[in-house]
Amino acid sequence: MGKVISFMNNKGGVAKTMSAFNIGILWASIGKRILFIDLDSQANLTRMLSSDDPSKSPKWENTIEDAFVIGPKLNPLPILSSRYENVDFVPADLKLSNFDAETSHINLKVYLLKDLIAPVKDNYDYIVIDCPPALGSIIMNAMVASDGIVLVSTPDQPSLDGMHMIVGVYNEVLADDRLNPYLRFIGCLITRVENDTINKSYIGQIEEEFGAYVIKPFIRKNTKLNQSVSFRKDIFSYDPKDRGAKEYRDAGKEILIRIEQD
Ligand SMILES: Nc1ncnc2c1ncn2[C@@H]1O[C@H](COP(=O)(O)OP(=O)(O)OP(=O)(O)O)[C@@H](O)[C@H]1O
Ligand SMILES: [Mg+2]
Repeated sequence: MGKVISFMNNKGGVAKTMSAFNIGILWASIGKRILFIDLDSQANLTRMLSSDDPSKSPKWENTIEDAFVIGPKLNPLPILSSRYENVDFVPADLKLSNFDAETSHINLKVYLLKDLIAPVKDNYDYIVIDCPPALGSIIMNAMVASDGIVLVSTPDQPSLDGMHMIVGVYNEVLADDRLNPYLRFIGCLITRVENDTINKSYIGQIEEEFGAYVIKPFIRKNTKLNQSVSFRKDIFSYDPKDRGAKEYRDAGKEILIRIEQD
């Protein structure tokens, strides 16, 4: 049975998409079957997976939003093949920003994503969900549908605040037997790390609070990682010798070990 892993933080721009993308691609490169689900109307992950030509912005006939609105019984997840071996994806586009308005008629809408994933869960080893910087019903859907969550954080106060907000929702989900009492907290991945005293102080705070849940290594701030997005490449093909590639390789393996630990 495939495992569903969500990358989250209520704060924007902390490298959720960068991390979900590179780590999912890493797992595919070691033979795991991966399904990415883009839950962000910005569609950054969708663009990374669909084409390596930055001038292309394909239009999708069916997106995750269409599946949500029409519902799991009538409309299965619109799964597409990506340009990577072992990797499929479910695209998002701007329509997803209407999620709340367009699903207001649906009873029990927190189960929509879980019900959509259920029929395909066995076709994959890992289903990797890229979450938006938000706390609302899309995040609740991701929490209900997931086996584990990875918090992604930069070492600064707004990002730490964003993690605390997600932890608050996580605790609500755990406390309610009808939601997802078995949801696991896999760990906290610290990204865009710089070598100065403020960064060190926030890393210290995160380590004190999250202890062994802090994933090593940290991902340092790095021009090659930033450039790889403009060229729509994963870091392993953009520059396999870059330190960002090594850090994501090691952190991605570490996350896999944690997911597989019972
Ligand atoms: N380690 C890094 N070094 C340098 N730049 C980085 C690093 N990680 C991410 N970035 C850059 O930071 C920006 C934000 O990254 P990303 O889009 O992955 O964040 P996000 O958390 O998914 O944002 P959003 O909340 O808007 O979805 C991107 O331009 C990305 O290229
Ligand atoms: Mg993102």
